[in-house]
Amino acid sequence: MSTQTDAAVDSSKQESKRILTGIKPTGIPHLGNYVGAIRPAIQSIQDSDDEAFFFLADYHGIIGCYDPAVIHESTKIIAATWIACGLDPERVTFYRQSDVPEIPELAWILNCSCAKGLMNRAHAYKAAVDINTEKADVDPDQGINMGLFGYPVLMAADILMFNATHVPVGRDQVQHIEMARDIAGTFNHRYKPLFTLPSAVVDEDIPLLTGLDGRKMSKSYGNTIPLFGDPNPQVSPEKQMHKAIMKIVTNSQLPAEPKDPDDSALFEIYKAFATPAEIIDMRDQYAAGIGWGDAKQALFDKINSEIAPFRARYEELMANPKELEEILQMGAEKARRHSRKQLDKTRRAIGIRPLAKLK
Ligand code: TRP
Repeated sequence: MSTQTDAAVDSSKQESKRILTGIKPTGIPHLGNYVGAIRPAIQSIQDSDDEAFFFLADYHGIIGCYDPAVIHESTKIIAATWIACGLDPERVTFYRQSDVPEIPELAWILNCSCAKGLMNRAHAYKAAVDINTEKADVDPDQGINMGLFGYPVLMAADILMFNATHVPVGRDQVQHIEMARDIAGTFNHRYKPLFTLPSAVVDEDIPLLTGLDGRKMSKSYGNTIPLFGDPNPQVSPEKQMHKAIMKIVTNSQLPAEPKDPDDSALFEIYKAFATPAEIIDMRDQYAAGIGWGDAKQALFDKINSEIAPFRARYEELMANPKELEEILQMGAEKARRHSRKQLDKTRRAIGIRPLAKLK
């Protein structure tokens, strides 16, 4: 439904951009995350004057992870990773979702402008139900908590709280942005046009990396190359990365045999790190029969030249959580300047306000 009121707050009709994205703090960042999310997000901010909000979505993290130690440690690792990779917390409002209590409050209000049927159609919820339905004698909702069911509403609160216009996400998240638009539209129409309708931004040019075993690099396949290595290393992070790269599967062609670069995971990952001239040169080396061992070494050198400069800062932040906490608190303070006002307006719009001025 597109009313005139909606059009007035439609982000696609707005000139100045406000970019916002959330990062779920579960798991250890790998090269696929770096190439697919971290590097492009940081670069796009560096190259523009747009306002930007990046946050750790820890209240989303607890939906699927009940291990307090994992939630706590991942928050630290992921905050340290983004800062070490060049996110400038002065330039970007960088905060932890749970430090902005107005967000879950807004989520409750938005729940009341969200049709239950809309949530029934959410991909993540439906996929969980489908898995149960395939099993005999299992309740379709077994093991599904209300957090998973209402996930898109909390995400809508994340976005609408700051009137974000552009939300960079992976393809799997596009439906959630559409739901945020839908919820905003219902609220704006019912009460007051307080919320900007956000647009999802999916970058088609961002490479999806192949993992060690030839499938897409993903935590769930256990085939990833960690960005900064395991947190409790017996071996240095650099050696860990070298070892992982040496494990990437190749075919059995011998050194000196000409090889097809477009059929090689090594070359595909190489392309994500090399300049156009280096890519052409490596193509020639494949045609000339570079051995797989040498191709792996070349890939390691290339990746390492980009990542090595970030390692010292990463280690420093991991060893000094106080500095990270200060950065996050500074971000929360900036975020709450917006969220307090937006929540106040929202509460007033729905009829929740003081009965009289006291004093
Ligand atoms: N759901 C997103 C993911 O899994 C993370 C997220 C939470 C998010 N809130 C957001 C992304 C708001 C963009 C905007 O990747």
